[in-house]
Amino acid sequence: MGRFCRTRLIGKLFVDCTAVSFVTPFWLRYNSRNLNNIHYCASPKTQPQVDERPYPSILARVRLARLVNKPNSTRQVGTQGDTMRVLITGAAGFLGSHLSDRFIGEGHTVVGMDNLITGNMDNIAHLMGHERFSFIKHDVSNYIYVPGEIDAVLHFASPASPNDYLEHPIPTLKVGSLGTHNTLGLAKAKGARYLLASTSEVYGDPQVNPQPETYWGNVNPIGPRGVYDEAKRFAEAMTLAYQRYHGLETRIVRIFNTYGPRMRLNDGRVVPNFIHQALTDQPITVYGNGSQTRSFQYYSDLVDGIYRLLHSDEALPVNIGNPSEMTIVEFANAVVEIARSKSEIVFVQPTDDRFTDDPKQRRPDISKAKRVLGWEPKVQLAEGLKNTLDYFRDKV
Ligand SMILES: NC(=O)c1ccc[n+]([C@@H]2O[C@H](COP(=O)([O-])OP(=O)(O)OC[C@H]3O[C@@H](n4cnc5c(N)ncnc54)[C@H](O)[C@@H]3O)[C@@H](O)[C@H]2O)c1
Repeated sequence: MGRFCRTRLIGKLFVDCTAVSFVTPFWLRYNSRNLNNIHYCASPKTQPQVDERPYPSILARVRLARLVNKPNSTRQVGTQGDTMRVLITGAAGFLGSHLSDRFIGEGHTVVGMDNLITGNMDNIAHLMGHERFSFIKHDVSNYIYVPGEIDAVLHFASPASPNDYLEHPIPTLKVGSLGTHNTLGLAKAKGARYLLASTSEVYGDPQVNPQPETYWGNVNPIGPRGVYDEAKRFAEAMTLAYQRYHGLETRIVRIFNTYGPRMRLNDGRVVPNFIHQALTDQPITVYGNGSQTRSFQYYSDLVDGIYRLLHSDEALPVNIGNPSEMTIVEFANAVVEIARSKSEIVFVQPTDDRFTDDPKQRRPDISKAKRVLGWEPKVQLAEGLKNTLDYFRDKV
């Protein structure tokens, strides 16, 4: 072998070795990624899904860098006339289904996700088969896979009534913590805007009335209601961490008592309870002496507030609720009157966990929502209750 050939061979070997040593770590990492991150999603049941999040590909990282961490980077959420593809978790629930209707009505595409722990497919039956609606049955406390682009993630999945979260305390804590983490991860991977459904329960049994967003609350972390209240407080903290650390565009709505069609008659919340009793002429059971106050908002006002918030620039929590406060006795009387019921009001002393740490007063300060969203509730109690009673009449 001539000197020239030897030199060429050594040169070639050198180039090959360098190439192998450069490529091997990427190859190993790529393959271990595929092996480690195969998950099974509830729908479609048989297909393994590949997690993109822990090790996004270089291309995905470049795309993320373009989409995230830049103002207005989420494919123009908020631009009038633009249509989005949104993921709504808890879509088969009371609020998730109404939100789905609103987004479909505005021309957007909705991917609904729900594990049906407290939801009901009847709530979205009218959307099934719609060309811009699809549904994935899945528990968001497990890894989430959604193919294709997503412009906004609205995280509404969670048991929401005291009956539900006391019956499912650990799934409630999981959906507020793991479910929030998973949905935030998905929003980050997709370069989507994120909206968290939080609650007035973050204020606990408040010592300030009405409650502004700046109030930090009075929550018992180890009481029975702590599973819900603390899960939501954690969810808010996690959402803000993604905003501050990853530059994700996030919104938080603190929802006050909301009622309307598609609530479950047996979910234990005061509105369906009283409506059920009034429509069947049973005694209306008021707990305690009935002097505790609440403020009730009709669902369409809430949905409008959420829609505006998602499209706004407001990155910190916003209260959305109806500030007209009334005692529970006043509310019971209103239900009896509007239902034209023969029910009497009776007072009972509850002893079970549902009433431990029950807030004595609840009223949103909505000056921020008025200022930053130009929003305030429009539907009066009489009108909202009438619609809700009409909905429930043939269900009792
Ligand atoms: N309705 C209110 O007055 C009110 C007040 C404050 C906050 N919220 C919040 O709004 C959201 C919706 O409440 P709602 O009143 O519509 O309750 P809901 O029970 O009717 O709906 C919640 C939905 O989430 C689904 N879900 C629960 N855990 C899930 C999981 N791990 N994976 C997938 N889906 C899951 C349920 O099956 C259900 O369809 C909740 O996050 C709740 O905390 C509601």
